[in-house]
Amino acid sequence: MRFLSVNQLVPGTRLARPLYGAGGSILLRENFELTESIICRLKGLGYNGVYVNDEISEGIVIQDVVDEKLRIETANRLEDILKNNGNIEDMQPLVSEVVDSIIDNSDIIINMNRLSGHHKYTYLHSVNVGILSIGIGVKLEYNRDKLIELGMSGMLHDIGKKHVPIDILDKSGTLSKEEFQVIQTHPERGYKMLNNAYNLSSVTKVGVLQHHERFDGSGYPNGLKGHEISMFGRIIAVSDTYDAMTSDRAYHKASQPSEVIEYLFGNGNQRYDLRIVDYFSKCIAVYPIGSCVELSDGTQGIVLKNHMDSVLRPVIRNIQNKQIIDLKNDINYLGICITGLMQ
Ligand SMILES: [Fe+2]
Repeated sequence: MRFLSVNQLVPGTRLARPLYGAGGSILLRENFELTESIICRLKGLGYNGVYVNDEISEGIVIQDVVDEKLRIETANRLEDILKNNGNIEDMQPLVSEVVDSIIDNSDIIINMNRLSGHHKYTYLHSVNVGILSIGIGVKLEYNRDKLIELGMSGMLHDIGKKHVPIDILDKSGTLSKEEFQVIQTHPERGYKMLNNAYNLSSVTKVGVLQHHERFDGSGYPNGLKGHEISMFGRIIAVSDTYDAMTSDRAYHKASQPSEVIEYLFGNGNQRYDLRIVDYFSKCIAVYPIGSCVELSDGTQGIVLKNHMDSVLRPVIRNIQNKQIIDLKNDINYLGICITGLMQ
């Protein structure tokens, strides 16, 4: 099984997993054989890619830390609450389910393959930020209750954007000073929206308020520095940046996960807390299982396994001769690195 972008799909390819529609119901069954017109439709619906079974990926099984169905359900609940002025605390049962799933699968590295593209971006982004934040919390050995508080904070971090006009949020050009000032109000607006949620802890609310604060004091709304920023604020800053930079948005093309990890490390103890970046790099699959990569010696391989302590050097299988190469432990490959994902 592997994840293939819609642009690489050819008629006759079979789905390795069911494909869910926006409402969370099954759109296409597992093993469904794709046709030209279905591939076109998937592109039109905003799917980035799908999981397929083919010769290259034979024998590869991909396990998700949180399955797609739960991610979509959680995103839909968030959308429903925000659009209908529902009770924000109703997110809690689903966030608890997400936390349990992450705790149960804590030996698996988080795989952030993006099935859907522009479609419902805001809500899925929020859920992803929640998942990534919980992943960091697990590394920090937070207990279940604290992970739920952190997950709530991560998933609700951008709710204040409800009050920012959509044409400013989705603007593709440079923002004017006034427009940027409007965007910068969203952490405080979000914090105020949570004021009446009496069952939400103050650390959850403060995480929402502080997710754009930066370690060196360059963030907003209060220009807090270092340890003045709560742990939740520092954690969400890292997961939010990662998920936003690895997504296609109106104003930028998605960067590769390895580039974003490099960016985060490069800004460690400047914009971000280096310790958090370090924990984060240990829970995210920079090269997810089933992704095809190119090595600096020209070899093309498919990722079989990730090492938690060495995310940039997974075990791969050579696509041409099927040789297994452990980039972390194979001494013949110590001088060779992955140059990028094959698109
Ligand atoms: Fe934000």
